[in-house]
Amino acid sequence: MSTLPLVLVHAFPMGAAMWRTQREAFPAWRVETPSLPGFDGRPLVDDRTVDGYARDLLAALDAQGIDRAVFGGLSMGGYVLFGVLRQAPERVAGLILADTRTSVDNPERKAARQRSIELARRSGATAIADEMLPGLLGPTTQAQRPDVAREVRTLIEAQPSETIAAALEAMMTRPDSAGVLARVTVPTLIVVGDEDTITTVADAEAMRRAVPGSRLAVLPGAGHMSNMETPVAFNEAVGSFLGSVRG
Ligand code: MLT
Repeated sequence: MSTLPLVLVHAFPMGAAMWRTQREAFPAWRVETPSLPGFDGRPLVDDRTVDGYARDLLAALDAQGIDRAVFGGLSMGGYVLFGVLRQAPERVAGLILADTRTSVDNPERKAARQRSIELARRSGATAIADEMLPGLLGPTTQAQRPDVAREVRTLIEAQPSETIAAALEAMMTRPDSAGVLARVTVPTLIVVGDEDTITTVADAEAMRRAVPGSRLAVLPGAGHMSNMETPVAFNEAVGSFLGSVRG
């Protein structure tokens, strides 16, 4: 058993259950899948920023006695990990950045987030699921894996609308994190689905260039939710990376 835990931070607007297959995939590791503020029944925090969410995550890990860990984050989970790197880089022993990016929202994306906040408050999580599902999953999953689409919808619909609105606020105000990534010296794996249109292969390649010695795994046939769409390939990439961290 590794003495380091593996902490996996979930995407928007799903809770920790999106890591279902990863929880069982690495038996030599203690795998923790914390929920961000408001998700999975957790209380919201006043500080609706990715750095506020990172502070809440670190406090939750303190409460579990976790001082250092290998951290993985998918999409919004990655945005929050950049906050962890800003606040407490010494707690990060290794980094997995899946389907995420360091850049900020452009004005069009910010305006779309504002519309989604209003939609969440007016019509709830089902309307957000309707809006987001076509972009979250790649064409291969949409054509061949209706079970994954159903599972993602269920995960989204389980979240309260104000949780969704708060996370949208946090994402739309997030700072550029290219600088923080350039200071990373721990082993780093970058993962991306080759059909991801929200955070693209080009975004992943930019992160790979920013961290000397990092590896990049591009997963064929996966969209944005690569860990759910192609779990075998995702877990293989992470498993082989974890082997190198332990060694
Ligand atoms: C996520 O998957 O966490 C979000 O789609 C990321 C984003 O909208 O920027």
